[in-house]
Amino acid sequence: MKLIDGKKVANEIKEEIANEVQQIKEEGGKIPHLAAIIVGHDGASETYVGHKEKACTQVGFDSTVLRFEDDIAEDTLLRKVHELNDNPDIDGFIVQLPMPKHISEQKIIEAIDPKKDVDGFHPINIGRVVIGLPAYVSATPAGIIELIKRYNIETSGKDVVVIGRSNIVGKPISILLSQKADPGNATVTLTHSRTKNLKEVVSRADIIIAALGNAEFLTADMVKEGATVIDVGITRVKSDKTKSGWKLLGDVKFDEVAEKAEYITPVPGGVGPMTIVSLLQNTLKAAKGEIYPKF
Ligand code: GUN
Repeated sequence: MKLIDGKKVANEIKEEIANEVQQIKEEGGKIPHLAAIIVGHDGASETYVGHKEKACTQVGFDSTVLRFEDDIAEDTLLRKVHELNDNPDIDGFIVQLPMPKHISEQKIIEAIDPKKDVDGFHPINIGRVVIGLPAYVSATPAGIIELIKRYNIETSGKDVVVIGRSNIVGKPISILLSQKADPGNATVTLTHSRTKNLKEVVSRADIIIAALGNAEFLTADMVKEGATVIDVGITRVKSDKTKSGWKLLGDVKFDEVAEKAEYITPVPGGVGPMTIVSLLQNTLKAAKGEIYPKF
């Protein structure tokens, strides 16, 4: 069994980005600038945005956080999105989800200029991913692709089974791995709660992407000897063995599956650390005009 060390890869990529930013600075170029909108005081959202700000500082990006109370009107928030769209100093921005109930998340996402949509949530970016055009790919699928690349895991001709059909993980990773690309060229099966004989389908897979959000769902009896197992789940459960009183569980029963897998991602320290790095990579691409050229 070989562990896919997402934390180590994420640190390596951050160092690469930091070096590139240093070079941009020396050449007098534009420092990448990421902004985030956060509404209300959701604990998890505060933590995520805090991590994103810290990561920006680590690599030398400029970062701005716009905070609003959770009673902000939808049209006021839409105006803020348009202001960021029109601000030439901001290369990319995200609107941290979830939003309060009175605000339509879809409306907000569709108001973001696709050229600044570094989360890759706008239908234009999703559509461009589907037809293989340059696009901002959302953080988790982009992070999985990066891990597959850096560990030289062969995907061409392999049987991939994705468990979970969410818009931000299951669907896009299925598309990306089935594309005529490297990584890609896999035969992908996208499974979900209505899939019949799930165990039988999963046990044929060379590569399993577990992204259903059900703690320790994938057990060793569902895994072929020598498979690659990518665990996207993060479920917080109470624990009397940790200082905080909580621990994180993935969608994979790690100890038993690790005995059969050739490659496996741990939780925490696998896919998770890659997601912020993907956001930084997208922001750098935005600043450089790599996806949508700046004229
Ligand atoms: N909430 C949880 N994860 C994310 C993310 O990646 N982007 C945004 N905008 N909100 C989130």
